[in-house]
Amino acid sequence: MEDVKEVFLKDYKKPEYEIKEVDLTFELYEEYTTVTNVMQMHKLNKDTSDLELNSIDLELVELWINDLKLKETRYIYKNEKLTILNVPSKFTIKIINTIYPDKNTELEGLYKSGSIFCTQNEPEGFRRITPYLDRPDVMSVFTTTIIAEQEKYPILLSNGNKKQCSEFMNSKHEVTWYDPHPKPSYLFALVAGDLGCVNDAFTTASGEGIELNIYCDKGNESKCSHAMKSLKESMTWDEEKYGREYDLEIYNIVAVDSFNMGAMENKGLNIFNSHYVLANEDTATDANFMGIQSVIAHEYFHNWTGNRITCRDWFQLTLKEGLTVFRDQSFSADLNSREVQRIEDVKALRERQFVEDASPTSHPIQPKSYISMNNFYTATVYEKGAEVIRMIHTLLGVEDYRKATDLYFESFDGQAVTTNDFLWAMSKASGVDLTQFERWYHQNATPVLQVKENFSDGVYTLTLTQNIPNSIDNEIQEPYYYPLKMALIDNEGNEILEETLIISKDEESFSFENLAFKPIVSLNRDFSAPIILEQESTDFAFLMKHDKNSFVRYESAQVFATQTIEAMMKGENIDQEFVSSYGYLLDLDVDLSYKALILELPSVSTLMQRQESIDFDAIYKAKEELSKHLAAVYENKLLSIYIEHHKPSSIDISSESMGSRSIKNRCLRILSSSLQGKITELASAQYDHSLTMTDRIVALDILESTGNESATSALNDFYRKYKNDTLVMNKYFSILAASDREGTLDRVMALQNDEVYDEKVPNLVRSLIGVFARNYKHFHAKDGKGYKFLAHKIIEIDKINPQMASGLAGAFKIYAKINKINQKIIKCELERVLSTHSLSKNVYEIINKILKL
Ligand code: PHE
Ligand code: ZN
Repeated sequence: MEDVKEVFLKDYKKPEYEIKEVDLTFELYEEYTTVTNVMQMHKLNKDTSDLELNSIDLELVELWINDLKLKETRYIYKNEKLTILNVPSKFTIKIINTIYPDKNTELEGLYKSGSIFCTQNEPEGFRRITPYLDRPDVMSVFTTTIIAEQEKYPILLSNGNKKQCSEFMNSKHEVTWYDPHPKPSYLFALVAGDLGCVNDAFTTASGEGIELNIYCDKGNESKCSHAMKSLKESMTWDEEKYGREYDLEIYNIVAVDSFNMGAMENKGLNIFNSHYVLANEDTATDANFMGIQSVIAHEYFHNWTGNRITCRDWFQLTLKEGLTVFRDQSFSADLNSREVQRIEDVKALRERQFVEDASPTSHPIQPKSYISMNNFYTATVYEKGAEVIRMIHTLLGVEDYRKATDLYFESFDGQAVTTNDFLWAMSKASGVDLTQFERWYHQNATPVLQVKENFSDGVYTLTLTQNIPNSIDNEIQEPYYYPLKMALIDNEGNEILEETLIISKDEESFSFENLAFKPIVSLNRDFSAPIILEQESTDFAFLMKHDKNSFVRYESAQVFATQTIEAMMKGENIDQEFVSSYGYLLDLDVDLSYKALILELPSVSTLMQRQESIDFDAIYKAKEELSKHLAAVYENKLLSIYIEHHKPSSIDISSESMGSRSIKNRCLRILSSSLQGKITELASAQYDHSLTMTDRIVALDILESTGNESATSALNDFYRKYKNDTLVMNKYFSILAASDREGTLDRVMALQNDEVYDEKVPNLVRSLIGVFARNYKHFHAKDGKGYKFLAHKIIEIDKINPQMASGLAGAFKIYAKINKINQKIIKCELERVLSTHSLSKNVYEIINKILKL
């Protein structure tokens, strides 16, 4: 790799120019687009004479400074920089350039999703549209004019409020948008197309009327109602919980099929992956509905945390992402079940972030350097970032946290700031000293807390030792400061006391006096800190039955199941105490979605994270044996719960209906590990008669795993019904790619030729190739064929879309922890990828880190 440049946080320098206003005109043609960019520039650093603009793959047509057209000797365009020599201190610059959206397969800058023109500019896409100071601390007021064929592109959108539209004689029309709020270029957006639209309205607390629009492909309008409802719920919630109102006349959302990520918060014009907009009971699962609600909220919340107050530089990404994820998680918890939401969030954190934090790509929530910023939209920056904000919320308490966010908005509105500015506001408004807490921003890897207990003379003592792994560069890291919510309970589960301890030292003890008997400790309640607990002496069987904290109860069931499976992997018999405790859970009278969660056995990912040298075969074998045993022992009970809650005609997404579906599908899945014949019948009937996608997908997945005739017929039926709906076809590909059955890799390879599959559409690549790369059984097969296949795909897709390719390369992150045989094959494949001609810096950065270890 030539020209890989690493960017360092410590090298940050203020911008040398300011762009007061920018006026953009886009003329859209089928083969190309002409951009006219007029900027009002002010020099901030008097000592510079040249102006350097970011500029990638642009064809320059004309450059003007004030009224003077520049000769070619006045500027240099090379290495992604356009340098204009000797500029005055205050001037207008006009640049005309051509771009080719139709050929843009990276999906950054201006590109086409089907027949729709759309943009994606975070973090550094804008420089693929026009030369600019493409960095988040340059904020300007944008005016955007779009000119296109009226018939093909009746809808022309950009940020802000609509200023004027006019029709021309030559079948073209033009629309101008004006966004009064200064913003960085990464929040710029443009959309042009022949789109369907759902329209609604919202009145803010101070009485402003806002027009709400969701645009989608024509014919999909009826699938936008859940997204619209979620948008209005988000607007109300942000007013009530954070005192934040919306600040433009219009809020537009556009759903497109080709999108690298989930969605993007462009000011007043969010662009969404259609996966997070379109849904009805026939096409979307309950999980999809929840996902839409949270992503709609997430993007809406960015209007204040991200847009009004933005990041000084990309190292500050968690400033907006960690905070906004915490906000969307709180929103979902308020609107749905708080306990289920917390467990789902922690599950996601552990499966993605803990794995990342234990890998060679581990980084602090505020990274110190990057080669490709695209690689840092990670579970660490987002999910661990949200846990860090959650801890601040716990340390400050509800009231002071609100005072502190008010102060944050008041102090920094309209500015591009740092995580330190945020911490300043948190600390200033509450009086809480966050100096030591700040380590969460700069250190990496998951901290461990070792627990020792002692009871004598009525005094119970907890001794807690922080075990902090070294940094990724092997430097010693310091102890953290965090809240540890705990309780002492008696042998009937009653609380003796509940407290939030502050952990801050390498080792410290906490004593509780005047106790008549030895209490049982319930630790890290609600998962108050993102740590790994090591508690050898704890009675998890007791806690999983009796703890009143729904999180610790769930957690204890997981830990007990993990211990049971690990013992089986060492050749021991199934622990009968676990089996009987599991039976106890089956009889619980609790929220059904919660019950479905505590009945789930630990994931393969959870089990693998605890191994020194990962052996997937052993994990699968033990886990399957345990499920089989539970299914056999509790057959009748599982069946009766299934029957009680199987209501094929109830299709709504109320929490009761979703709860029924969760618990009965959990039971069906457990049963499916043992009773093949009977279960095939139940699953077939469920597939045939249920009216929701949730039920259909579970049934189809179970049938698929049998590989028998009923599987083939259900799969064929599903394909026939949904082959014109790509969002649903993603689910079809995922089921086949995640399959445990023999021959999965061959089927995945063959599916690439399916007429529905398209390597240029990220959702499809993720559901076929991406899901296969997380199919531990087949991807890590000892013959190395899974690795070879993925390496080949990475090389191929890198030429189309580097961001997609580096995402796929992430599947190799467990390299350092896998057994030696697999490691050797991976090394060989990754070296092959690295030696590829003109590899992107995205893929280079990830693979280089993995191999360096
Ligand atoms: N900023 C987006 C979000 O978190 C994510 C995103 C990043 C989308 C980069 C596209 C590209 O909501
Ligand atoms: Zn975000």
